[in-house]
Amino acid sequence: MRVGVLTGGGDCPGLNAVIRAIVRRGVSEFGYDFVGFRDGWRGPLENVTSELGIPQVRGILPRGGTILGSSRTNPFKVDGAVEQITANLRSNDVDALVAIGGEDTLGVATRLADLGVKVVGVPKTIDNDVGGTDFTFGFDTAVNIATEAIDRLHTTAESHHRVLVVEVMGRHVGWIALHSGLAGGANIILIPEQPFDIEKVCSLVERRFQLQYAPIIVVAEGAVPAEGTMQTVSGELDSFGHVRLGGVGDRLAAEIEARTGQEARAVVLGHIQRGGTPTAFDRWLATRFGLHAIAAVHDGDFGKMVALRGTDIVRVDLIEGTAALKSVSPALYAEAEIFFG
Ligand code: F6P
Repeated sequence: MRVGVLTGGGDCPGLNAVIRAIVRRGVSEFGYDFVGFRDGWRGPLENVTSELGIPQVRGILPRGGTILGSSRTNPFKVDGAVEQITANLRSNDVDALVAIGGEDTLGVATRLADLGVKVVGVPKTIDNDVGGTDFTFGFDTAVNIATEAIDRLHTTAESHHRVLVVEVMGRHVGWIALHSGLAGGANIILIPEQPFDIEKVCSLVERRFQLQYAPIIVVAEGAVPAEGTMQTVSGELDSFGHVRLGGVGDRLAAEIEARTGQEARAVVLGHIQRGGTPTAFDRWLATRFGLHAIAAVHDGDFGKMVALRGTDIVRVDLIEGTAALKSVSPALYAEAEIFFG
């Protein structure tokens, strides 16, 4: 059996740990051969491959990024892509494919599985928004990076009696903002699932200053003001039609300063949240996902995605992971609101 592996979408810490586990178990337990497809779906689409075996996965467990490269290529935007992909899989003698990715990459895998491609998915994303799994790997690392930043910003905000707005990733969902904001003791957390009222934000800011503290606001990049209350930012679209975000933190800081007269600055954490070595939890989760994904291939259980349920790794239909984004519930957000102001 020869198995192709690809990593698609935004990179995230733990991708290499998955690749390593797939190859280590695939070679030692099942006697499989591997081929790496480069840069997400661009690899099988344009037949760009790289060698993948035990020597290539030595030493990569703690390394961030992905040795296979990544991209946001959407093959369904290209005429004849499915035929091209299946022809390239055939010419590489590939019997099965493991696709490691988030909603977009796994969305493509779901459609290809429906068309008869033998594919198993592994959910990744720092955003933690893939359905069907309790957590995706990469999320814990991003939350830890954001929490450390918030901890550091508290002391400088207080020294200068300033508002500090921390913009974190999360274009559709606020998991990183919610978890890092709770862990870091943020005074306000704004997430895409709950449009914010700028007046309420400003009154919480003022209350915090009255208590002789400086407010820290954590805002997810996809957070939006309630309709008609504040101007929003728009940007270019990628090939999956997602807007390239970034900017809500600056807008918010400017608006708070204008409305309250308090100095407000924004810090955009950006790709720092995605780079570098994964936490121990993400290495553990990514490794187990890899081990179980290659077992699914071995069992011929295609059209499935590995998922974390409690402490068990299970297999769910790919469609369960991609049909709907996993978002923060109003009840969870309400827990965080107890600490606002
Ligand atoms: O999908 C993960 C993610 O990190 C989002 O949180 C963010 O909006 C997006 O990727 C940024 O993607 P890119 O690096 O391609 O601009």
